[in-house]
Amino acid sequence: MPPSTSSAITLNINGEKYTLPVDHRTTLLDALRERLDLTGTKKGCDHGQCGACTVLLDGRRAVSCLQLAVAAEGREITTIEGVADGDDLHPVQQAFLDLDGYQCGYCTPGQICSALGVIEEHAAGWPSAATEDVRPEAGPPPLTPEEIRERMSGNLCRCGAYVSIVQAVARAAEAEAEARTGAEAAI
Ligand code: FES
Ligand code: FES
Repeated sequence: MPPSTSSAITLNINGEKYTLPVDHRTTLLDALRERLDLTGTKKGCDHGQCGACTVLLDGRRAVSCLQLAVAAEGREITTIEGVADGDDLHPVQQAFLDLDGYQCGYCTPGQICSALGVIEEHAAGWPSAATEDVRPEAGPPPLTPEEIRERMSGNLCRCGAYVSIVQAVARAAEAEAEARTGAEAAI
Protein backbone atom coordinates (compact mmCIF):
# COMPACT_ATOMS: atom_id res chain seq x y z
CA MET A 1 0.00 0.00 0.00
CA PRO A 2 1.48 3.40 -0.92
CA PRO A 3 2.15 5.73 2.02
CA SER A 4 -0.63 8.18 2.82
CA THR A 5 -0.14 11.70 1.51
CA SER A 6 -2.49 13.34 3.97
CA SER A 7 -2.93 13.50 7.73
CA ALA A 8 -5.32 15.00 10.25
CA ILE A 9 -3.55 17.79 12.10
CA THR A 10 -4.52 20.19 14.87
CA LEU A 11 -3.40 23.77 14.54
CA ASN A 12 -3.43 26.22 17.44
CA ILE A 13 -4.36 29.54 15.87
CA ASN A 14 -5.05 32.68 17.85
CA GLY A 15 -5.74 30.58 20.95
CA GLU A 16 -8.22 28.25 19.23
CA LYS A 17 -7.67 24.69 18.09
CA TYR A 18 -8.58 23.67 14.55
CA THR A 19 -8.45 20.02 13.47
CA LEU A 20 -8.41 19.33 9.75
CA PRO A 21 -7.11 16.78 7.26
CA VAL A 22 -4.39 18.21 5.03
CA ASP A 23 -2.31 17.03 2.13
CA HIS A 24 1.25 16.97 3.42
CA ARG A 25 2.27 19.46 0.75
CA THR A 26 -0.21 22.12 1.94
CA THR A 27 1.47 25.30 3.10
CA LEU A 28 0.38 26.98 6.29
CA LEU A 29 -0.70 29.94 4.17
CA ASP A 30 -3.04 27.80 2.06
CA ALA A 31 -4.37 26.00 5.15
CA LEU A 32 -5.20 29.36 6.75
CA ARG A 33 -6.78 30.92 3.70
CA GLU A 34 -8.30 28.04 1.76
CA ARG A 35 -9.22 25.60 4.51
CA LEU A 36 -9.92 27.72 7.58
CA ASP A 37 -11.20 30.91 5.94
CA LEU A 38 -8.65 33.01 7.80
CA THR A 39 -8.08 35.26 4.82
CA GLY A 40 -6.43 38.13 6.69
CA THR A 41 -3.07 36.56 5.90
CA LYS A 42 -2.32 37.49 2.29
CA LYS A 43 -0.64 35.68 -0.57
CA GLY A 44 1.66 37.89 -2.60
CA CYS A 45 4.51 35.98 -4.22
CA ASP A 46 4.04 32.50 -2.66
CA HIS A 47 7.85 32.28 -2.77
CA GLY A 48 9.03 33.82 0.49
CA GLN A 49 9.97 37.10 -1.12
CA CYS A 50 7.29 39.68 -0.25
CA GLY A 51 6.31 39.15 3.40
CA ALA A 52 2.56 39.52 2.73
CA CYS A 53 1.93 36.13 4.36
CA THR A 54 3.83 36.88 7.59
CA VAL A 55 2.41 35.34 10.77
CA LEU A 56 3.90 34.72 14.20
CA LEU A 57 4.97 31.19 15.16
CA ASP A 58 5.62 30.93 18.89
CA GLY A 59 5.94 34.72 18.86
CA ARG A 60 8.52 34.86 16.08
CA ARG A 61 7.69 36.04 12.60
CA ALA A 62 7.60 33.57 9.74
CA VAL A 63 6.46 33.62 6.14
CA SER A 64 3.59 31.15 6.06
CA CYS A 65 4.00 30.38 2.35
CA LEU A 66 7.29 28.62 3.13
CA GLN A 67 5.95 26.72 6.11
CA LEU A 68 4.18 23.39 5.73
CA ALA A 69 0.95 23.18 7.70
CA VAL A 70 1.97 19.81 9.14
CA ALA A 71 5.15 21.41 10.52
CA ALA A 72 3.12 24.07 12.31
CA GLU A 73 1.32 21.53 14.46
CA GLY A 74 2.10 22.13 18.13
CA ARG A 75 3.14 25.74 17.55
CA GLU A 76 1.29 28.86 18.73
CA ILE A 77 0.20 30.53 15.50
CA THR A 78 -0.86 34.18 15.55
CA THR A 79 -2.45 35.70 12.47
CA ILE A 80 -3.69 39.23 11.96
CA GLU A 81 -7.16 38.06 13.10
CA GLY A 82 -5.70 37.37 16.55
CA VAL A 83 -3.77 40.61 17.08
CA ALA A 84 -6.53 42.86 18.43
CA ASP A 85 -8.09 42.35 21.86
CA GLY A 86 -11.75 42.12 20.90
CA ASP A 87 -12.72 45.58 19.63
CA ASP A 88 -9.54 47.12 21.03
CA LEU A 89 -6.87 47.44 18.40
CA HIS A 90 -3.31 46.47 19.27
CA PRO A 91 -1.03 49.55 19.57
CA VAL A 92 0.72 48.48 16.37
CA GLN A 93 -2.59 48.38 14.50
CA GLN A 94 -3.60 51.72 15.98
CA ALA A 95 -0.30 53.30 14.92
CA PHE A 96 -0.74 52.06 11.33
CA LEU A 97 -4.26 53.51 11.35
CA ASP A 98 -3.29 56.85 12.90
CA LEU A 99 -0.26 57.39 10.67
CA ASP A 100 -1.68 56.05 7.40
CA GLY A 101 0.79 53.16 7.31
CA TYR A 102 -0.96 51.71 4.27
CA GLN A 103 -2.68 52.58 1.02
CA CYS A 104 -4.44 49.57 -0.58
CA GLY A 105 -3.86 47.54 2.60
CA TYR A 106 -2.86 44.30 0.90
CA CYS A 107 0.56 44.12 2.55
CA THR A 108 -0.69 45.50 5.87
CA PRO A 109 -1.47 42.26 7.77
CA GLY A 110 2.04 41.04 7.02
CA GLN A 111 3.55 44.42 7.88
CA ILE A 112 1.75 44.46 11.23
CA CYS A 113 2.70 40.88 12.13
CA SER A 114 6.27 41.64 11.14
CA ALA A 115 6.26 44.85 13.20
CA LEU A 116 5.12 42.85 16.23
CA GLY A 117 8.11 40.58 15.72
CA VAL A 118 10.48 43.50 15.19
CA ILE A 119 9.44 45.18 18.43
CA GLU A 120 9.96 41.96 20.41
CA GLU A 121 13.29 41.20 18.73
CA HIS A 122 14.54 44.72 19.37
CA ALA A 123 13.42 44.70 23.01
CA ALA A 124 15.26 41.39 23.46
CA GLY A 125 18.46 43.06 22.23
CA TRP A 126 18.74 41.36 18.86
CA PRO A 127 21.00 43.32 16.52
CA SER A 128 20.24 43.87 12.85
CA ALA A 129 22.50 44.43 9.85
CA ALA A 130 22.09 48.17 10.54
CA THR A 131 23.27 47.94 14.15
CA GLU A 132 26.63 49.66 14.65
CA ASP A 133 27.56 48.25 18.06
CA VAL A 134 26.59 44.58 18.27
CA ARG A 135 28.32 43.85 21.58
CA PRO A 136 25.78 42.31 24.01
CA GLU A 137 26.76 44.83 26.71
CA ALA A 138 25.79 47.68 24.35
CA GLY A 139 22.13 46.68 24.79
CA PRO A 140 19.36 47.26 22.24
CA PRO A 141 20.33 49.91 19.67
CA PRO A 142 18.11 52.97 19.28
CA LEU A 143 15.23 52.02 17.01
CA THR A 144 16.14 54.58 14.37
CA PRO A 145 14.36 54.78 11.00
CA GLU A 146 17.39 53.02 9.51
CA GLU A 147 17.03 50.17 12.03
CA ILE A 148 13.31 49.90 11.30
CA ARG A 149 13.84 49.91 7.53
CA GLU A 150 16.41 47.15 7.83
CA ARG A 151 14.33 45.05 10.20
CA MET A 152 11.18 45.46 8.08
CA SER A 153 12.99 44.93 4.78
CA GLY A 154 11.38 41.52 4.24
CA ASN A 155 7.97 43.15 3.86
CA LEU A 156 7.38 44.78 0.50
CA CYS A 157 4.70 47.36 -0.18
CA ARG A 158 3.73 47.84 -3.80
CA CYS A 159 1.98 51.09 -2.88
CA GLY A 160 5.23 52.47 -1.51
CA ALA A 161 3.79 53.46 1.88
CA TYR A 162 7.20 52.93 3.46
CA VAL A 163 7.61 56.38 5.00
CA SER A 164 4.39 56.02 6.99
CA ILE A 165 5.08 52.38 7.81
CA VAL A 166 8.41 53.32 9.41
CA GLN A 167 6.71 56.08 11.40
CA ALA A 168 3.99 53.70 12.55
CA VAL A 169 6.47 51.06 13.70
CA ALA A 170 8.48 53.73 15.56
CA ARG A 171 5.38 55.02 17.33
CA ALA A 172 4.18 51.53 18.24
CA ALA A 173 7.62 50.60 19.56
CA GLU A 174 7.62 53.71 21.76
CA ALA A 175 4.16 52.85 23.09
CA GLU A 176 5.24 49.28 23.83
CA ALA A 177 8.41 50.47 25.58
CA GLU A 178 6.39 52.87 27.74
CA ALA A 179 3.94 50.09 28.59
CA ARG A 180 6.83 47.80 29.54
CA THR A 181 8.42 50.47 31.75
CA GLY A 182 5.07 51.13 33.43
CA ALA A 183 4.51 47.43 34.07
CA GLU A 184 7.99 47.02 35.56
CA ALA A 185 7.50 50.08 37.81
CA ALA A 186 4.24 48.60 39.11
CA ILE A 187 5.94 45.35 40.22
S1 FES B 1 3.42 35.24 -0.10
FE1 FES B 1 4.82 34.52 1.36
S2 FES B 1 6.52 35.82 1.20
FE2 FES B 1 5.23 36.43 -0.44
S1 FES C 1 -0.46 49.30 1.15
FE1 FES C 1 -0.72 48.51 -0.87
S2 FES C 1 0.85 47.04 -1.02
FE2 FES C 1 1.27 48.03 0.84
